[in-house]
This record gives sequence, structure tokens and C-alpha cells, in this order.
Amino acid sequence: MFEFRVITIFPELFESFREASLIGKAGSKELLKVKPIDLRDFTDDRHRTVDDAPYGGGSGMVMKAEPIFKALEKNEGCHKVLLTPQGAPLTQKIAHRLAGQSPLLLFCGRYEGVDERARGAFDEEISIGDFVLNGGEVAAMAVIEVVSRLIPGVLGNSESIVEESFSLGALEYPQYTRPEMFDGASVPHVLLSGNHKRVQDWRRGQALLRTRDRRPDLFEKLELSQLDRNLLEQAIEDKDK
Ligand code: ADE
Repeated sequence: MFEFRVITIFPELFESFREASLIGKAGSKELLKVKPIDLRDFTDDRHRTVDDAPYGGGSGMVMKAEPIFKALEKNEGCHKVLLTPQGAPLTQKIAHRLAGQSPLLLFCGRYEGVDERARGAFDEEISIGDFVLNGGEVAAMAVIEVVSRLIPGVLGNSESIVEESFSLGALEYPQYTRPEMFDGASVPHVLLSGNHKRVQDWRRGQALLRTRDRRPDLFEKLELSQLDRNLLEQAIEDKDK
């Protein structure tokens, strides 16, 4: 069983999260477990203080090193991740690695950051993007979702294929479902053809076109075969029609 431990000052935020959706289903199948841990349980003052004013002045509060150390000590043997905007950007590749690192401990930073002396106690720091959340809780949930999908048995086959295509570096192709005509827009003809090979080729072309237009940074890294180039060419032609 894969185990996530989440250290947070808002353990209650994880209650519905761990019970809902695929995470909840996987939990009841005992494929994974999400255990929230209250950082305040590692304080010993009456107010259960986890933060204090920064030395040198300035606005906001800093998370104290001591409760962090105590909480990490209590969870020795875990792979320890600090969620912070200063961390390495989360990618599918990092998620694959983390999926082999149970028990995975996710520490949710709050306020203006954590005492620099506590940072060395973590194995790595991860960011979920170049923006600032109020704290690491939502980021930890993102990590839990991304990693959970990679744990064998959590997803059905059809869902895992979608993940694979992102791992291969391209964005997903456009999807359609009933009705065939909606608000004057029809479903691309090829999808109704019943010709699996043609559908596959069309999807690959669309995925490449989408990646080129929306994420040139990803497109640049793709290694395209001659067939890929032809399919992209065709997709560009179809678009210009
Ligand atoms: N905490 C605050 N912002 C964050 C981000 N972008 N990623 C991870 N943790 C965070």
C-alpha cells in the first residue's frame, strides 16, 4: 500500500479530499492511504505556536524550525518533500519517481515561509507552478492526485492511456461525445468513420498541432517521426480548410 503523510496546520482540509473520487476508491481498496498530521501536535506551549515574526523585520510570519524538526523526526523513514514556490516545478517525470517513494511525506508550508534552518531536513522541495498559494495544502493535494494515478490498480486501463500520452510529451487530442451536432458544430467526420487507424492518425496529428500552438516549449522537445510530420502537416491543412 502506498502511504502519503501530510503535515499541515489544516488537517481537516484533507478529510473530504481523501474520501472523494478516485483517491477514496483507492483508499477503500487499500491501494493507498492519506494520513493528515497536525503540525500543532509537535508544539509544547499553551497556544500550540507554529509561527513567529521574522528576524530582521518585515511583514508576515515564519514557520518555526522546532515543530518541523519534531514532526519530521517522528516520521523518520519517509521521503520528505517540502511544498514551496521555491521548489523544483512538478512534472509527470517527477511524479513517476515519487510513485516509488512510499511513505511519502508532504509538508505544507504556510505564511511567508519556513525557517531556513528547517529546510535542510527535507529530501527535496517541490512547486506546483509559478504562482503563490496561501500555503502548501492545495499543492500537496495536487501531488497526491498526480502520484496516485500512477500507483498500479488505482486507474482502469482506459484512464491510464491518457496519462501515458502526456508522459510522451504531447498535449491531449480534442475529444467529443454525443450529440453528433451541437449548436451548429459537428463532430469531425473521421471520428464517426469506425476506422481505428484513421482515428488514431487524426488524433496524433491533432495532439501535435495543439502542442505546437499552445506549448511550443514542449513541442521543441518532441522527437517526431516522418509519420508524425505527415500527420501534423495534414492537421494544419485541415485547420486551414
Ligand atoms: N506554497 C505556496 N505556493 C506554492 C506553490 N506554487 N507550489 C507549492 N507550494 C506552494
